[in-house]
Amino acid sequence: MKDFIYHNPTKVYFGKEQLQHLPQEILKFGKKVLMAYDEGAVKKTGLYDKIVKLANDNGITLYELTGIDPNPRHTTVNKGVDICAREKVDVILAIGGGSAIDCAKGIAAAAFEEHKDVWKVVKRGGPVEKALPMVTVLTTAATGSEMDPYAVISNMDTNEKLVIAGPALFPHVSFENPEDTYSLPAYQTACGAVDIFNHVLDQDYLAGDATFDVVRGLQEAVMAAVVKWAPIAMKEPRNYDARANLMWASSLGLNGMLDGGSLHVMACHQMEHELSAYYDITHGLGLAIITPRWLTHILNEKNAPEIYRLGVKVFGVPEGLEPMQGAKEAIDAVSTWCFKTLGLKSNLTELGIDSKHFKEMAEHACPDGVIPGPNPLTPADVEKIYEMCLH
Ligand code: NZQ
Ligand code: ZN
Repeated sequence: MKDFIYHNPTKVYFGKEQLQHLPQEILKFGKKVLMAYDEGAVKKTGLYDKIVKLANDNGITLYELTGIDPNPRHTTVNKGVDICAREKVDVILAIGGGSAIDCAKGIAAAAFEEHKDVWKVVKRGGPVEKALPMVTVLTTAATGSEMDPYAVISNMDTNEKLVIAGPALFPHVSFENPEDTYSLPAYQTACGAVDIFNHVLDQDYLAGDATFDVVRGLQEAVMAAVVKWAPIAMKEPRNYDARANLMWASSLGLNGMLDGGSLHVMACHQMEHELSAYYDITHGLGLAIITPRWLTHILNEKNAPEIYRLGVKVFGVPEGLEPMQGAKEAIDAVSTWCFKTLGLKSNLTELGIDSKHFKEMAEHACPDGVIPGPNPLTPADVEKIYEMCLH
């Protein structure tokens, strides 16, 4: 078992009646707030009006950045950085899903830089140690950005989608009301569920220490809850228990609680971010297509018992099979969940994607020549996995 440090500074208000605490949390940092959101859902659900009223009633001045696309662009982030510099903003309030929150994190990170360009921060690499404070109001159950130190920013001019990370990127406070996800379409609900599932499986479960029962049991509980509740939330969008389970699973997925002692890998994410960067597809959809192919590609005698165990604990695959057979049934169960139960498209051809860019995408996915971890992948492996995703 490896040594580890657990430190998560994000304060979470979870539940139906928590938004009333927003002003008191914001005012700890100041009165000038940049509100970063994407208009659609935030305005339709009434969340926007509620937040504007809370701000007006408490002497908070709001500046607004809208038009944040899924897979947020560095150009949009830089517009927010300009507003922060011009208006001397004290705190950023992100309202939305991973895209709005990551955009806010990018703004927060670039706000203290002379050049005011988030892409320079992204390309410089290294941990982000200084950033404007952030508060989030979450409207999806997916990325974990509401409680993690990462942001993913896209540059569509160069086909790059890259991660920035660092202790300053934890939101200070996040508000999570499952009711704010009632309006999330079935498709986004499904994509978010696959994202959570993949965070736990790839970053933690198959990269972890098989003897760390405490963490392993938590990982299985989170994945099993997502597998169970996602189809219910799709059929009954206003089912509070379903939305609450998914929302908290989202936060647990990357808040550090599930990765004590494990190696950080995220091979599927490395491969998916290339797909999003080249084709601007939904993150969770790309992961759904990649995950079963990746499992098939890495399956060997050594990891077969772990993959089989996933099948037993999370998908109800029967016990007592020979490990290789059990692992294959587990992988089939992952496919069935993604493509039959959640109804997601099952291959890249259906998305109009062909093999044209696979070679360069595979090379970008392995910036150090290999995606490391217990099941390392070379560019040739990644290209093979992309090809498997075509059918
Ligand atoms: O723009 P609107 O109309 O609001 O529609 C949004 C958006 O089109 C809609 N939506 C969000 N909340 C809604 C809603 N529609 C109805 N009701 C609601 N309550 O959903 C669409 C997708 O939103 P987005 O924020 O893009 O989704 P998600 O939360 O899945 O975030 C995806 C982004 O996060 C990155 C992904 O790569 C992608 O760029 N990730 C961030 C991570 C992190 N920071 O830790 C880790 C993840 O692995 C991931 O890479
Ligand atoms: Zn993800």
